[in-house]
Order: sequence, then C-alpha cells, then structure tokens
Amino acid sequence: MLHPVICIDGPAASGKSTVARLVAQDLGYIYVDTGAMYRAFTFLTLEAGHDPTSRPRMKQLLEKVDFQAEIQKKEITLREANRDLAPHTRLPEVNAAVSIVSALPELREYLVNLQRKLRLSGPLVMEGRDIGTVVCSDSPFKYFIDACPTVRAERRRQQGEKDNLATRDRLDSSRASAPLLRAADATLLDSGKNDARALADRIVSEVRARQKPGPTVP
Ligand code: DC
Repeated sequence: MLHPVICIDGPAASGKSTVARLVAQDLGYIYVDTGAMYRAFTFLTLEAGHDPTSRPRMKQLLEKVDFQAEIQKKEITLREANRDLAPHTRLPEVNAAVSIVSALPELREYLVNLQRKLRLSGPLVMEGRDIGTVVCSDSPFKYFIDACPTVRAERRRQQGEKDNLATRDRLDSSRASAPLLRAADATLLDSGKNDARALADRIVSEVRARQKPGPTVP
C-alpha cells in the first residue's frame, strides 16, 4: 500500500527542513530529507576521487555501492557499508559540489526509485526540490517554501555554514533533469514573512482538514 506523502520543495536555505520536521512531528509521520541523500552521494563521489561531472563514474559508483536508507525513530539514516554518512553530508566541499553531482541523471533515477519505495513504509513528509513535480507528483499535499535571497543568505550565515546560494540556485533551477520548479498545484509559502511554526501549523491543519472523512450519505 502506498501511504500519503506531504511534499515540501524549495530552494537552499528556504527553511523547508525546519517546517518539514515540525509537520512530521505534529502528524507522527516519517521525515525524509532527500537533499541529504544527494549530499551523501556527493561525499562518496569526492571521497572516491571521482570527477563530479562524470556520468560513467557515477554509474560505476552506483553499481558497486552498498548504500542503505533505513527508517529509525521516524527519520532516515543513511549508511554506506554500515558507516553512518550523516557526519559527512554538510562539509563545505559537499556544499560546493552537491548541485553538480545531483544533476547527473543516473543518480537522480537511482534516488527517485529509492524515495518512491519509502512510501511503502508509512506516511511521509518528504522535502527536496522535485518531490511535488517528479517523485510524488500524484500527492494532493504539495507546498513550495521560499524566501528572498537576503533572508536565505542570513539564515546560512547564522547556521555557520559556507554555501554559495546564488550558484546553487542557478544550477538547481537550470539543470536538464528535474530542475527546481514549483508544481502548478503546490501552495507557495514565504518563510521570510512567517515563522516556521506558523507555516507548519497551516500545513498540518490543511492536511487534517482534507483527511477528515466526509459526511456519510444514507
Ligand atoms: O536541500 P539541500 O540543500 O540539502 O539539497 C542539496 C542539493 O541536492 C541541492 O543543491 C539540490 C539537490 N537536491 C535535488 O536535486 N533534489 C532533491 N530532491 C533534493 C536535493
């Protein structure tokens, strides 16, 4: 059985992870950060010394890799040959290369298949760039979270992370395969004008209202 998915897309540092986590906690759903999966493969690519733009190298990596995405306590743990990849996903070199590696069609196909299979495990809040447009385009629950570039840059600064948002925005939006796009049926939310709690409350109440069984017809 395919469980419901709440799709939360948006650009880097839009605040979508904070909102997605709150929504998942409130509803008791599994939280899935698909960006972390692209980051994990960017780390593995760099660690192997592969050219991050090479499709044959990525194909080779995918054929050999022992990659596991497991649900533990309603979150996804990413491992390679039993090594936890979480400590490696937010390194500055990963930030710098992730938009290049994530544009490789071989990797996208591999991860989109994996992400779709997670719908068999339970209800999900899945955040990323192409969740509403590609991964779970059939979902009735789609949100696109954005904020102006100044607000997003300040957010990264406060997180103490080095990240070139303008370059990532350009690469994520212009790639040929599943570019960052707002789905036509996604609700646009501004995280510069509303705090994460207010946005999460709105999503949770909309989802609850739409899931309420309708009046029974005699
Ligand atoms: O959400 P994030 O900043 O952690 O994502 C890291 C990169 O991964 C982002 O620059 C684009 C890519 N990404 C993607 O292409 N598709 C997704 N569903 C999620 C992330």
